[in-house]
Amino acid sequence: MTMSNESIAWVEGKIIPAAEARVPILDHGFLFGDGVFEGIRVTDRGIFRLDDHMKRLSTAGRAIGIQPEGGFARAREIACETTRAWGARDGYLRLIVTRGVGALGIDPTTCLNPAIICIAAGPAEPDPEKTARGLDLITSSLRRPAGDVLDPRVKSMNYLNNVLAKREARTRGADDALVLNGLGLIAEASATNVFALTGNRLDTPQLTDGALEGLTRRTVMELAVEMGLEVRERSLGRFDLYAADAAFLTGSRAGLIAVGSLDGSPISQTGRAQVDTIGEAFVARARELSVPVD
Ligand SMILES: Cc1ncc(COP(=O)(O)O)c(C=O)c1O
Repeated sequence: MTMSNESIAWVEGKIIPAAEARVPILDHGFLFGDGVFEGIRVTDRGIFRLDDHMKRLSTAGRAIGIQPEGGFARAREIACETTRAWGARDGYLRLIVTRGVGALGIDPTTCLNPAIICIAAGPAEPDPEKTARGLDLITSSLRRPAGDVLDPRVKSMNYLNNVLAKREARTRGADDALVLNGLGLIAEASATNVFALTGNRLDTPQLTDGALEGLTRRTVMELAVEMGLEVRERSLGRFDLYAADAAFLTGSRAGLIAVGSLDGSPISQTGRAQVDTIGEAFVARARELSVPVD
């Protein structure tokens, strides 16, 4: 049964309204962005690709040396518990594992107990007009850090690069930003993956160009192969988006969303019907890949 549309949070063993939830100010997640997280789609009272999300979270945790008590299996249980308490058919989870409380300095060895937090909120409510027209993107002046600076494949709580790219887009009147890597190749958008559809070919930047391995991305690639498209992970430049028949972004919260323009020039919509077909197939597949929590 749907309890309410108010976001809730699992914090320190209790589920409470998210607006009332607090974290200790000496948690290194708060002080330094020292932690990892997942944004997860809830569909039909189930959690989309739960095991894949847990794998990405635990790999990110291993990459930065965070291991919560009870392991990531405990984080999985908490995600399920929070989804049950959320009660609605659809929604969105933010599952966070922070380094935990420690000294005021950065030394992570002072943090003895990583903290797990889970927030459940309603699904995205896209603006239908915007969805129909496609998003207006700008190219961010900020580059995505290289893997040997801060690996974009680690979904860490350090999102300042993403936040500032989004801010740049919003302050320039656009919806989102395309973010390039140090070589000027497309990494992704501020917090979504990028695709270009050209004829029978679907291209997306390779992960080593600075993209997170999105689970929406993975699902779309699987579906596209089943639909007979040629799917390629390769380096893409801005030109490839102008040359495409359609371009779109993917993410857990937004699903698939078409791009309408880039830096003031329109992106072709001739492949739009096919993008919408992939979008519908994604919604159906998301149901099939959801793990029931009841
Ligand atoms: C930087 C970044 N890229 C891409 C994505 C899309 O990934 P997913 O489809 O797993 O939500 C996210 C999602 O949170 C993200 O933070």
